[in-house]
Amino acid sequence: MTAKRIVVAGGAGYIGSHVCVELLQAGRKALVIDNFANSSPVALDRVREIAGGNVELLRADLADPADAERIVSAVTAFRPDGAIHLAGLKAVGESVAEPVRYYAVNLPATFTLIRALEAAGARLLVFSSSATVYGDLNKSPVDETGALGPTNPYGRTKLFIEEMLRDLARADKRWKICNLRYFNPVGAHASGKIGEDPNGLPNNLFPFIAQVAVGRLPKLKVFGADYPTRDGSGVRDYIHVVDLAAGHVAAIDYLAKEASPGAVEFNLGTGRGVSVFEAIAAFKRASNRDIPFEVTARRDGDIAEIYARPDKAEKLLGWRATRTIENMCADHWRWQSANPNGYRDE
Ligand code: UFG
Repeated sequence: MTAKRIVVAGGAGYIGSHVCVELLQAGRKALVIDNFANSSPVALDRVREIAGGNVELLRADLADPADAERIVSAVTAFRPDGAIHLAGLKAVGESVAEPVRYYAVNLPATFTLIRALEAAGARLLVFSSSATVYGDLNKSPVDETGALGPTNPYGRTKLFIEEMLRDLARADKRWKICNLRYFNPVGAHASGKIGEDPNGLPNNLFPFIAQVAVGRLPKLKVFGADYPTRDGSGVRDYIHVVDLAAGHVAAIDYLAKEASPGAVEFNLGTGRGVSVFEAIAAFKRASNRDIPFEVTARRDGDIAEIYARPDKAEKLLGWRATRTIENMCADHWRWQSANPNGYRDE
């Protein structure tokens, strides 16, 4: 059995839009549920341009009780085989400042999606978790048996949802669930039509570098060059968003074919660590632009180094990341230079 009809919660966002492209190109149908809190309807127009096929859209807020009945009806009417759940708030700093909002959005959004899937009789779910669930407790490469200890409220919402989904799969064997622990998604679709479009000042390294390269921001701050890493800057496992998106299709196919997998965790990363200085150099080569930077103090809550051991995904999902840091920079730059103001230009 293959899962043909997939609900994509948060499907207009950065990762969600790339997931939609991969689903459509694999011949699947998608129903996107999005409230456009941190995304644009233009992204879905672009998904249709790239991949053809049909993406249906339900504009609704999974975390708003007033929208719940409408969501349950629309999901049931769509007759899904399963869902990919990427809807939620995701800014680490904001979650420290407004923790209750993070719990009050990310958990209830998941409750409503589960209720809708129950009503539709489609108990197959791929959840967008994060490597942030590992916190700073493990030596890299970290595998899925690593100790769990997120260091901020955003990360704790991801861990709590994972734990709830494990409880659900234990209680009701009809549920089949993947918790995908993303490392650092970067890059954009090779067409340059969809990519990351953060609201306001970017928090993350790649969108910040890209906006410096395009001249929208004057200078990058390198948060610390005194870490115990090979060049003193922080090391992360950057993964091309198209590789990451393909991992979701592999995960949903795995769940469809396994008789009783329960809830399974997968690291989605490349297995390779890249430092901030290496990322700057790679982006400079790809864009042929100057990237002015200054080294400043460490950012609160940052860790020195984390990268994945991605072997379990390769073994069970038959998936691995193939795109290099050069590909990530070239594709990120193509998107950024063609859309200097993201989707706002349209
Ligand atoms: N960095 C800078 N300057 C910047 C932004 C980042 O030097 O302006 C550095 C950071 O210190 C870190 C690296 O670049 O060493 C990557 O930082 P990001 O903010 O891009 O990514 P993080 O690894 O901090 O965060 C990411 C996701 C989070 C997730 C976390 C889990 O964005 O959602 O991984 O580890 F929680």
